[in-house]
Parts: sequence; structure tokens; C-alpha cells
Amino acid sequence: MGPQSPSRTAAAPLAEIDDLRIAFRGHDGVLTDAVRGVSLTLNKGERLGIVGESGSGKSLTGRALLGLLPPAAHLRAKTLRFDGTDLLALSARKRRRLCGQQMGMILQDPKYSLNPVMTVAAQMREAFALHAPKTGRREMREKIVEALAAVHIRNPERVADAYPHELSGGMGQRVMIAMMVSSGPRLLVADEPTSALDVLVAAQVLAILDEMIGKHDTGLIFISHDLPLVMSFCDRVVVMVAGRVVETCAARDLLHAQHPYTRGLLAANPPLANPPDELPVLARDPAWLIDPREAARGAAT
Ligand SMILES: Nc1ncnc2c1ncn2[C@@H]1O[C@H](COP(=O)(O)OP(=O)(O)O)[C@@H](O)[C@H]1O
Ligand SMILES: [Mg+2]
Repeated sequence: MGPQSPSRTAAAPLAEIDDLRIAFRGHDGVLTDAVRGVSLTLNKGERLGIVGESGSGKSLTGRALLGLLPPAAHLRAKTLRFDGTDLLALSARKRRRLCGQQMGMILQDPKYSLNPVMTVAAQMREAFALHAPKTGRREMREKIVEALAAVHIRNPERVADAYPHELSGGMGQRVMIAMMVSSGPRLLVADEPTSALDVLVAAQVLAILDEMIGKHDTGLIFISHDLPLVMSFCDRVVVMVAGRVVETCAARDLLHAQHPYTRGLLAANPPLANPPDELPVLARDPAWLIDPREAARGAAT
């Protein structure tokens, strides 16, 4: 960036996480950190990918921002901010309100996110009422059908009256996105939004997300273990291993990433055009698991 760059005067980030730790109590009663000091920022309109092996703390990190952690989780952080608001200082009620109105989350499996005993229209009504509580019944119905049509659902009237189990995975996913799109969240966490879908439906879902982000300047946290997808869809990528961020880089620079874990992930994604005979196996180094700060504290006491 040149000296004329306005970046130094740019507004505060949309989301700011500093030293996030999330712990669970084990059978022995001891609290163990699952997320061990994650720091990251997200700017308006930015798409931040989080990649890493399963269990590395990606979902917990995303959920922490939205206040959607499991009740057993113990959260500590130096900073947890949304658009300048200190989320840690808000009452539970204010927090829920803020999250409901300005943030959204799309989960991997719509089966667990849509309420099975409510029709699509009934749950969309609840979601929309958060934003426009005084909407009349007929106007609400129109808004719901419009939102479903906007995510390319061909028979929105019928889908509106369906129960979640009557929908295919791709359809359920689009219903969830429809709920998000129409509210135009400022921050969206998409947690493996396409990994349960076949390739064509996944591409459609990504196109819908893309359109929404462009329209509302939404900041996106895109959790995935699909490196090529993240490289093409995101601006910046955070790599997590065992509850910590081990690397952050521009998505286009991911191919030149330095951390051995990232290099291993990349090697495990062979080029389609010219695949090697044998896929390399990711060699894990126990040193990746050690938190340098914990090691320092251990040495000090
Ligand atoms: N409800 C829970 N109770 C106990 N431990 C949990 C719970 N949820 C997550 N964890 C722990 O946190 C780790 C990270 O979880 P998660 O963020 O879901 O990983 P990821 O999304 O990267 O696969 C898990 O490996 C698990 O050890
Ligand atoms: Mg996860």
C-alpha cells in the first residue's frame, strides 16, 4: 500500500477478537481450554476464511461472536467487540437483541438449525419480527415468499408451508440463507455451509451468499476445511490448529503459506489437473500444540 493509502484512518473493524479462550470442564472437574488465545479481526465487507482440522476450535470461535456457545462453555477474552460495542459488557438480553438484528449464522446442517415442529413460514416470521415487529400478517407473508424466491426457490408458496423434514438438504440450506439474506446481517458466520451439499447446489448457495455480501457489505466469517474453496471465495484466511491461530494471510498468498500445518494441508489437496500417484500424509508435530505463553508461564512458576 502506498503512502496515500487511507487504511490508517479507516474505521474500526467490524469484529475484533483478542485472546479468546473457551474452556470446558472435564470428567475430572478440571477446566481445559478448547480455544486457546485466538485473536482475529474482520472488516466490513471482508470475507475471512477459517480453516483447520476438525476439533481445532473453528466453530466455537464463530459461535463466541454470536453468543451461541453451549451452556457448559467458559469464555474469557481480552476483547470481544462488534462494530465498536464491547460484547462482554452487554447484558444477555441486549446481546441477544444485537446478535439477532445484526449478526447471523449459517450452520452446516439445516436439520439442526431449523425448528422441526414449525413450518418454514412460522420460523421466518419469528426471525423477521425481530427486525420489523409491527409488520401485518399479509405483508409478512409477502416478505417471506419474496425472501424464498430471492434464494431461487422455485415454489416459494409451497416451501413456506412445509416443515423442515419435508425439505432436501439444499432446500433447507437455502431457507436458512433466505432468513439471513432478507435481514441483511452486518456480520455473517457461515460454518461449513456447503459441505453437506452436492457440488451444483453448493455453487448455487455460494452465489446467493456472494450476492448478499455485495448488497449489504456484510462481513463474512467462512469456516471450511476446503482450502481451494476458501482461496477462491475469501479475501483473507486464518489457519487454526488445536485451538490457536497458527497463520493469517491473504487468501491469494495461501499457496505460499509458511506454517508446516498449512503446507501439509495444501499438499493434501492435490492439483486436479496433475495429481501425484500418492497423497502425502500430514505429519503432525507435537510442538504445534504448545501455547508459547503457557510454556512461558510454566517455566516461570
Ligand atoms: N459442548 C462441548 N463440550 C465439551 N467440549 C467441547 C464442546 N464443544 C466443543 N468442545 C471441544 O472443543 C473442541 C473444538 O470444537 P469446535 O470448535 O467445534 O471444532 P471445529 O469446528 O474446528 O471442528 C472440540 O474438539 C472439543 O474438544
Ligand atoms: Mg465445526
